[in-house]
Amino acid sequence: MHKDIEKVLFNEAQIEEIVGNVAEKINNDYGDSEIVAIVILKGSLVFSADLIRRLDMNVQVDFMQASSYGFGTESSGVIKIKKDLETDIRGKHALIIEDIIDSGRTLSLLKEELKKRGAASVKIASLLSKPARRVVDVETEYLGTEIPDEFVVGYGLDYAERYRNLPYIGILKPEVYL
Ligand code: IMP
Ligand code: MG
Repeated sequence: MHKDIEKVLFNEAQIEEIVGNVAEKINNDYGDSEIVAIVILKGSLVFSADLIRRLDMNVQVDFMQASSYGFGTESSGVIKIKKDLETDIRGKHALIIEDIIDSGRTLSLLKEELKKRGAASVKIASLLSKPARRVVDVETEYLGTEIPDEFVVGYGLDYAERYRNLPYIGILKPEVYL
């Protein structure tokens, strides 16, 4: 185990089972319909790589990087797209692949944006969710598992751009944040 990790939440076998369950639901729902898997950079890189290899339909892959700002008491926030799709999503089935849903701000805006562009459907597959942190309600059609309100790293998830390469998901030792 990496010296900065205090506790492993999900080991490789557990992650494999979670990803397998998500893939099964997606396969059942879409059948033979072709989808565009939208990999949200950078956190969902590893999850996406494992998930798409378990999908049976035709899968196009594209990438997006986005953040949100401007959520006030009465404003609903603005999406800032740092890297946009190359695909024209109009008329296509978009499946957003995310690592973790925290406040829900970015994903709710992203879902709206893709609908505005004329996607035939827009759904979300997220490996993890922290329901205790939710500020904006966002429907997540395919969720791996919920976790408590703790910061996690590994399997694509970072702290200050580190730990994405760990094959498991864990919690950092408190002194790492100092
Ligand atoms: P939000 O749902 O718009 O607040 O943003 C979710 C994003 O915050 C995720 O895509 C991650 O990049 C990041 N994030 C939230 N919680 C964690 C965590 O526990 N570990 C690593 N990244 C996190
Ligand atoms: Mg992310």
